[in-house]
Amino acid sequence: MCGIIGYVGEREATQVLMTGLNQLEYRGYDSAGIAVRTGGNLDVRKRAGDIETLEDAIEENAPTGSTGIGHTRWSTHGPPTDANAHPHTGEDGEVAVVHNGIIENYGSLKEELQAVGRTFTSDTDTEVIPHLIEQFIAGGASPERAFREAVDRIEGSYAVVATFANSDVVFAARNDSPLVVGVGGDGHYLASDVPAFLEFTDQVVYVDDGEVVTLHSDRFEVTTTDGLPVEKSVETVDWDVEDTGKSGFAHYMLKEIHEQPTALRQCLSGRVNELDGQVELDGLEAIGQPSQVQFVACGTSYHAALLGAQRLRDKGIPARATLASEYAVSPPPIDDSLVTGVTQSGETADTLAALREARGRGARTLAVTNVVGSTAARECDAALYIRAGPEIGVAATKTFTSQVVTLSLLAEYLDAGDADGALVRERLRALRDLPDLVQRVLDDSRAEEIADEYVGSESYFFIGRGPNRSVALEGALTFTEITYEHAEGFAAGELKHGPLALVTDETPVFTMVTGNDEAARKTVSNVKEVEARDAPVVAVTDGKTDVEDYVDDVLALPGAHPSVLPLLANTQLQLVAYHVANQLGRSIDKPRNLAKSVTVE
Ligand code: F6R
Repeated sequence: MCGIIGYVGEREATQVLMTGLNQLEYRGYDSAGIAVRTGGNLDVRKRAGDIETLEDAIEENAPTGSTGIGHTRWSTHGPPTDANAHPHTGEDGEVAVVHNGIIENYGSLKEELQAVGRTFTSDTDTEVIPHLIEQFIAGGASPERAFREAVDRIEGSYAVVATFANSDVVFAARNDSPLVVGVGGDGHYLASDVPAFLEFTDQVVYVDDGEVVTLHSDRFEVTTTDGLPVEKSVETVDWDVEDTGKSGFAHYMLKEIHEQPTALRQCLSGRVNELDGQVELDGLEAIGQPSQVQFVACGTSYHAALLGAQRLRDKGIPARATLASEYAVSPPPIDDSLVTGVTQSGETADTLAALREARGRGARTLAVTNVVGSTAARECDAALYIRAGPEIGVAATKTFTSQVVTLSLLAEYLDAGDADGALVRERLRALRDLPDLVQRVLDDSRAEEIADEYVGSESYFFIGRGPNRSVALEGALTFTEITYEHAEGFAAGELKHGPLALVTDETPVFTMVTGNDEAARKTVSNVKEVEARDAPVVAVTDGKTDVEDYVDDVLALPGAHPSVLPLLANTQLQLVAYHVANQLGRSIDKPRNLAKSVTVE
């Protein structure tokens, strides 16, 4: 996700901002920039690429001034280019703005601003904000009034920070995106994350949704959007600078598991209208209305693709998922298929090769990816972004969940013609509620206890049926990857056709049983088979069957729509894998022999 830093004080702003941007690097980004108030002007420097590239652009004649803002961008609207990097300006030289989040109504605002003659120079949603502010200033508003009016017009998630040519004050506001004030002896700071200014101060004030911050050199004020004062308390953070990138979590993986509710909100933002059962996905015009879908993917993304294919088949659209490395060996007929690469990095060589193979045979192609401007996004006819934000831990966690939700949206989108409206609305409501439900699982999980109990076993098995089979496969993959222990996932019904021979009292079996349909009831029968071989069984369940009577331990799931329960089960398994690996002292964020992006076939 993007990072923000702002400063007003006695120091050289460029130095403070560049320090902040370097501290934000760990979050991942594809471009960076700063804007510094120099006299009555704004000096903006921004570059696609890394912070070193920006440093090169500044080195010779660094902007001088003691007020400014900076940003590291992770692309969501438009590829990583100099023009799309933040800060963004209008055209009157009045204001520079940085923004994290997504402006949902930017399309209509942009049209409105263009209609009054404003010219846009980037592909971003953010650029509407400086234009709006300048439009209000041109109408006679003060910088503060113009900022407040602009914030009033934008919808979506945002932490937005603005600096002005004619005012030595920085304004900021937030909705659903983090923002924190730093209180220093030599000035005041604003950031998306504490690490950005931790080198200068450990005194912080957390800003809440619906609040506006006015930052001066010697003081700060927090008000409601209506201008009423809000009392805030200053807290001291005692983080070790080493660990700051992890926001207090012991590992990036754990942080990313906990970021899932936010990532999912971001993924859904502006795409779902549950009232009329519509899903809006930008940029998919090129894919038309295919009569079938072939997914190609590797590893965790393949498991997401299995779930996506099942979702499409449930809606009557023929769909299949193939391991990308196997696709070219015996490619299925293309017919009228949309070949969809599911790849969080957008750079996985096997997936790119499968997409190229399909394209060479005349298929339309779609990339479902987390990285704007990645090779998959560029080479396919269209790209659909999962918006999970950067994932640093090698094990895919939040990107898996966001992939599955994005594919669920794709299924609704492709089925727009024939779907039963009431059912669609029900499924969309389930997706809307999912972030809160994941949060409940994270808050209440007994995974650490379960990990304590079973760590040191001979092997670990994961079983489930239907969507829960994909979760079993994913649970086993994550477990193996970070614990270095032997784990395997099976279709529950396949146990008796072979793997049951491996089951002993030394092999815990994690079983996913959700709902009370035939698949769930049959899985309970499979549980009885392993229980009869003395295997310890842990049920990951919402308690709708009597499975709890036959198992040793339970990881409980909250009641939820059947379509989202597998994702809640997956969250429990992520936590089990994490805690077992932690107990074993493994290198969780960088497991041996593995890389985040696999660019060889
Ligand atoms: C496992 C994991 C890998 C990736 C796989 C594909 O946790 O991360 O299995 O899912 O290498 O990567 P992408 O999605 O980048 O194509």
